[in-house]
Amino acid sequence: MIEVENIHKSFGDTHVLKGISTVFEQGKTNLVIGQSGSGKTVFLKCLLGLFEPEQGQICYNGSYYSELSMDQRRDLRQEMGMVFQGSALFDSMTVEGNVMFPLDMFTKQSKAEMQDRVDFVLERVNLIDAHKKYPSEISGGMQKRVAIARAIVMNPKYLFCDEPNSGLDPKTAILIDNLIQEITREYQITTVINTHDMNSVMEIGEKIIFLKNGFKEWEGTNKEIFKTDNVAVTDFVYSSELFKKVRQMYIEERN
Ligand SMILES: Nc1ncnc2c1ncn2[C@@H]1O[C@H](COP(=O)(O)OP(=O)(O)OP(=O)(O)O)[C@@H](O)[C@H]1O
Ligand SMILES: [Mg+2]
Repeated sequence: MIEVENIHKSFGDTHVLKGISTVFEQGKTNLVIGQSGSGKTVFLKCLLGLFEPEQGQICYNGSYYSELSMDQRRDLRQEMGMVFQGSALFDSMTVEGNVMFPLDMFTKQSKAEMQDRVDFVLERVNLIDAHKKYPSEISGGMQKRVAIARAIVMNPKYLFCDEPNSGLDPKTAILIDNLIQEITREYQITTVINTHDMNSVMEIGEKIIFLKNGFKEWEGTNKEIFKTDNVAVTDFVYSSELFKKVRQMYIEERN
C-alpha cells in the first residue's frame, strides 16, 4: 500500500503538484488520469523517489520515505518496477538481455538462476520465441511485454507504469492493460498506472484519481466515473462521442 499525504512539487515558480493526498492499495490497478500537462508523470516520479516533494509525505507499506536511511531508500527502490512512457528498452541488447539487466545490476544470482527467472517472466508475459531478438525486430506490443517482464523480474512490491499502452492499437492496448492487471493481482503488487486512455479506465480502473492543474479533482472507481456530475471529470471523460453516448444511456437509466 502507498499512502500519499498532501504532496507539493514545484519547479522554480511552476507549482505542478498542489497538495495531492490518496491511498493506493495492494493488488489493485490504481489509475492516474488527467490531461496532458496535469502532472501525472511528475506525480509518478515522486512515487518512484526520483523527485522529492517540498511538502507532504509518501508512505510505503507503513514506512515514510523521508524517515528512511540511504540504504533503506536503495532497498525500497529495488522493490519498485517501472514501465516508462515508450518502452525504453536498450536497443543494443536482446530481449533476454534487457530483462536480465536488473538482475545483473542488483543481485548476486548465478547465470543459471538469472536465466531461469528471465525465462519465467518472459513466459508470464506470453513471449516465448523472442529471447534472442532485438527490440527493433519485434512489434510495439511485444516491446511493451518485454518492458513489463523487465519491470517484474525483481519481484517488485510496487509497479509504476507511465502510459503503458501509448502507441498501441486499441485491441493490443487492452491486452497489455489486462496483463498488468493479472500480474498485479497474482503477485499482490501495488500498481499505479498513468493513462489518458478511456478504454483503460473502463477495463482496469479499480481506483482512479483525476488530476487537474496539479490538484486531485476527483477520485473513485470505473463504475463511479460514469455517474459523477463533476464537470471537470465529465469534460475529460466525454471528450469522445462514444462516451457521450454511454453517459446518455446512464442518465436515461437513472430517470
Ligand atoms: N523537470 C522538470 N522541470 C520543470 N518543469 C517540469 C519538469 N517536469 C515536468 N515539468 C512541468 O510539470 C508540468 C506537468 O508535467 P507532466 O509531465 O507531469 O504532465 P503529464 O500529465 O504527465 O502530461 P502527458 O500526459 O503529456 O504525459 C508541465 O507543465 C511540465 O512542463
Ligand atoms: Mg506524462
